[in-house]
Amino acid sequence: MQVTIFGASGLLGKALMREWRGDTVTGLSSRDADVRDPGSVQQAVRDTQPDWIVLAAAYTDVDGCETNSDLAFAVNRDGAVNVAKAAKQAGARLLFVSTDYVFDGRKTTPYQINDARNPQTTYGKTKAEAEIILLELVPDCCIARTSWLFGVGGKCFPDTIMKLAASRPSLDVVNDQRGCPTYSVDLASAIIQLCHKNAGGIVHATNAGDCTWFEFATEIVRSAGLTTLVRPVSTQQMARPAPRPFYSVLSSASLNALGIKTPTWRDALRRYLNERRQAPERMVGPLHQ
Ligand SMILES: NC(=O)c1ccc[n+]([C@@H]2O[C@H](COP(=O)([O-])OP(=O)(O)OC[C@H]3O[C@@H](n4cnc5c(N)ncnc54)[C@H](OP(=O)(O)O)[C@@H]3O)[C@@H](O)[C@H]2O)c1
Repeated sequence: MQVTIFGASGLLGKALMREWRGDTVTGLSSRDADVRDPGSVQQAVRDTQPDWIVLAAAYTDVDGCETNSDLAFAVNRDGAVNVAKAAKQAGARLLFVSTDYVFDGRKTTPYQINDARNPQTTYGKTKAEAEIILLELVPDCCIARTSWLFGVGGKCFPDTIMKLAASRPSLDVVNDQRGCPTYSVDLASAIIQLCHKNAGGIVHATNAGDCTWFEFATEIVRSAGLTTLVRPVSTQQMARPAPRPFYSVLSSASLNALGIKTPTWRDALRRYLNERRQAPERMVGPLHQ
């Protein structure tokens, strides 16, 4: 099978490139093909002749999307449409990576794939609009929504906590936002399986289990053997330009129905910390959600 990955230089893209075996995989960064440019997208697809296209490219700075909304829509919605049109033209299957931010975060039980979209941020709106257009344009596309991504090869929450914990006696972390941390390696594995299973439609793909950011930070500090005090605070005490959902737990039912299981986020965190210890040189990378 031939696979083309847009966004191969990102946190997820790097994991996909490392984990994908047994197929011919081409990874593209924005320098190889800018998704905003239909011509360059079509050329890349023509050159690589994929059976599957994985679209992991996105403008992922959630706060940045609020101030640069033109860029956010150009990359995340219009760029996705450019890739979908090229996929359709080439007869390739498409897997689009989406986000928990398409929901409003007001539920108190896990979000199911058919729950109504109601994004509260520009980033969420760009992804929600892309989902709707893609499902019309290429009805057999697969949309994998994920959340709270972490891994080596980019800036992420556990990396930030580890760096702060090394230099501060205490950390304040929000305890009223709940979600599913997801290790890039486990998401990559789920995406590879989805492609091999010829999956279509919307799927929620995260590590198993959920927690608050405070619970996540506490486990990071404990697992790393650090003594930093982690203190719970409220969202109100930590104002950000883009509102964060209070509850964005994604149900794993859709993934499990396809016979795909993911490890718990605690298990994933242990493996991430090991990988981080072994590959410190891969820790620098672009800003992301
Ligand atoms: N991070 C999270 O917590 C999170 C949560 C939910 C969903 N997601 C979704 O998961 C996917 C992967 O996220 P990530 O964290 O791996 O992203 P990331 O680390 O920020 O990487 C973004 C990738 O997109 C590429 N890109 C950006 N603008 C582009 C453009 N105009 N044309 C072509 N490529 C472009 C970047 O290429 P360059 O390196 O060349 O700039 C990079 O490879 C995204 O769809 C994101 O929305 C992420």
